[in-house]
Amino acid sequence: MKTKPLFIAFSTQKGGVGKSTFTVLGASYLHYLKGLNVAVMDCDYPQCSVYEMRKREIRQLETNLHYQSKAISMFESLGKQTYPIVCAKPEEAISKAHEFLAGESTEYDVVFFDLPGTINNDGVISTFMAMDYVFVPMAPSRMSMESTLSFIIPVHELLTEHKDLNLKAVHLFWNRVDGRIKKEWLEHYEGVIRQFGLPLLKTAIPQSVRYDKEQSIEGSDAVFLSTIFPADKSLLKGSNLDLLVDEISEIIHLKHQS
Ligand SMILES: Nc1ncnc2c1ncn2[C@@H]1O[C@H](COP(=O)(O)OP(=O)(O)OP(=O)(O)O)[C@@H](O)[C@H]1O
Ligand SMILES: [Mg+2]
Repeated sequence: MKTKPLFIAFSTQKGGVGKSTFTVLGASYLHYLKGLNVAVMDCDYPQCSVYEMRKREIRQLETNLHYQSKAISMFESLGKQTYPIVCAKPEEAISKAHEFLAGESTEYDVVFFDLPGTINNDGVISTFMAMDYVFVPMAPSRMSMESTLSFIIPVHELLTEHKDLNLKAVHLFWNRVDGRIKKEWLEHYEGVIRQFGLPLLKTAIPQSVRYDKEQSIEGSDAVFLSTIFPADKSLLKGSNLDLLVDEISEIIHLKHQS
């Protein structure tokens, strides 16, 4: 009997705050660096941006010998290939995931669900509530904060009142923090977050060009955001991605290779 993998989402109804970016970075980090088996359900249908990114990367690999040989030697040493990415409508994602997992001989540890930004429909809400844990990226701007809190506070209240739900917790974290953000401003909002009893991760992610674009695997530059490679060690420094994954792994009780 296979053990059920954890269902995890980086999700919020706020658009463009890093849901897909952290889905890819988190999945690649755990699958290629931490010895876990990961699958991704790309539910931002029909764009399926993660699925499309994998397709682009495979096309680039076909003509780039540097990355081709890098990929081959990595797969050999890992004894496995890339993680699967399944494109699904949000309302069908859970049944599609179960169907997919039942047909696989691999035992998966984590399934990431990349949900769309429009959560206000029943299909997306039921998929959101079927997660084990949700992590909410939040940009330090008034608009982003207000929109995030108006959505997360009721979810958190629901979880506090109903302990029997599948979703165990939602954790917020800062993304795109840059030097210009005033410390007092962050402290004010952290006070609001505490007042509502919302869990906030210790790790904050800086605003950084590394996160800002998909590195095309055309040249031979170090890659950060990729569905085929983990974030390159030289680019991890200062990104806080490693700290984020470690903190999340502890919360969800993931046992992985250090
Ligand atoms: N820490 C960061 N520093 C710089 N750019 C970032 C950072 N995090 C995310 N971005 C950039 O912000 C943009 C939006 O990110 P992403 O597509 O992951 O958001 P999303 O929440 O999935 O959006 P959508 O709601 O459209 O699905 C991307 O170009 C991404 O590279
Ligand atoms: Mg997205």
